[in-house]
Order: sequence, then C-alpha cells, then structure tokens
Amino acid sequence: MLTIGFLADHLDTIPTLTKWFRDQWSDYYSDWSQAEMEQDFLEDASHNRLPIRLVAFESGELAGTIILRENGDGMPPEFQPELGGLFVAESHRGRGIATELVRAGMRLALDQGYETVYATTVSAAGILEHLGWEFIKTVVYEDSQPALYRCKL
Ligand SMILES: CC(C)(COP(=O)(O)OP(=O)(O)OC[C@H]1O[C@@H](n2cnc3c(N)ncnc32)[C@H](O)[C@@H]1OP(=O)(O)O)[C@@H](O)C(=O)NCCC(=O)NCCS
Repeated sequence: MLTIGFLADHLDTIPTLTKWFRDQWSDYYSDWSQAEMEQDFLEDASHNRLPIRLVAFESGELAGTIILRENGDGMPPEFQPELGGLFVAESHRGRGIATELVRAGMRLALDQGYETVYATTVSAAGILEHLGWEFIKTVVYEDSQPALYRCKL
C-alpha cells in the first residue's frame, strides 16, 4: 500500500533522503557537508508554506519524495511554483510511485491556492505527459537541456 505524507511529519527520513540525493546528484552535492544537506531538507519540512516536501511510503518503507517550491535552480521566475526534487528509490521504481507523487504535488499546489504548476525534467517527461501536463519549451541549465512543462490545475 502506498501512503504519501509531509516531510514535516517524518523528519526521521532525512538521513535516507540525503543519502539518496548525494548518490543521485553527486556533482551537485560534492561540496555539501552532511549537516548542510540535512539543514536543507529541514527547510522543506513545512505543511503550509513553500517549500513543502512530500514523502511516499510503500508498505511502510520510505520509497520516494517530491517538493513543491517557489523556484528551482535555473527556472525562470515567471514559471512558479514548480514541482521538483522527484526521486523514487531504485527497488520501488516502475510501479507508479513517481506518478502518485506528482499527483499528490498537484493536489498540494491546488490546496495552496495555485492554478498552474510547472516542472523541468530530463527523465520524467513521460510521467508528466500521462498526467496531462503540457510541454512548453526546452530550457538550458548548466550542461543539460531539461524540458519545461506546465499543468493547469
Ligand atoms: C524518474 C523516477 C522518479 C521515476 O520513478 P518511478 O516511480 O519508477 O516512476 P513511475 O513508476 O511512476 O513511472 C515510470 C514509468 O512507469 C510507468 N508506470 C506508471 N504507473 C505504473 C504502474 N502502476 N506499473 C508499471 N509502470 C507504471 C509510467 O508511465 C512511466 O513510464 P514512462 O516513463 O514511459 O512514462 C525514478 O526513476 C528516479 O527517481 N530516477 C532518478 C532521479 C530522477 O531522475 N528524478 C527525476 C528528475 S526530473
């Protein structure tokens, strides 16, 4: 069974989240200490003020995460808020958990009073398109060219 909750209610997941992110985005986090990474996640631990990070559990085991935030790195300011920081642990992939995290993020954005939400992605375009998101354009960010998507809620 899949459950999705607020990071704010599951602060004990932060050490695992830091490990996942350090392994996945090793270049980005190469200069960060463990304490800095944990502090960064703590800043996402809110119920009602952006940034708000959600965490997913499959049969009680931490399986994935997503964040609703005002503006991600490299995102033009007019494309706010965005869903980002999407990650599903390898052993839980291919079972629709990222899809459910995006859906939960869309509900959260609506609850926060937004009518539109954005995302940039290299690897989750299929997931967004299945959920009815609209491709806007390719953007250039450092050495990658992610696709910018919009969803009218
Ligand atoms: C990208 C990532 C989040 C996907 O997580 P996931 O939980 O495996 O994703 P889903 O299962 O929801 O979707 C994966 C595929 O399975 C399909 N799928 C959806 N529900 C499914 C289900 N119940 N059973 C099987 N497949 C399903 C999806 O349509 C998708 O196919 P597509 O890519 O062709 O559209 C995960 O691989 C990951 O964390 N990668 C590393 C970090 C990363 O790239 N993050 C994204 C940054 S933008």
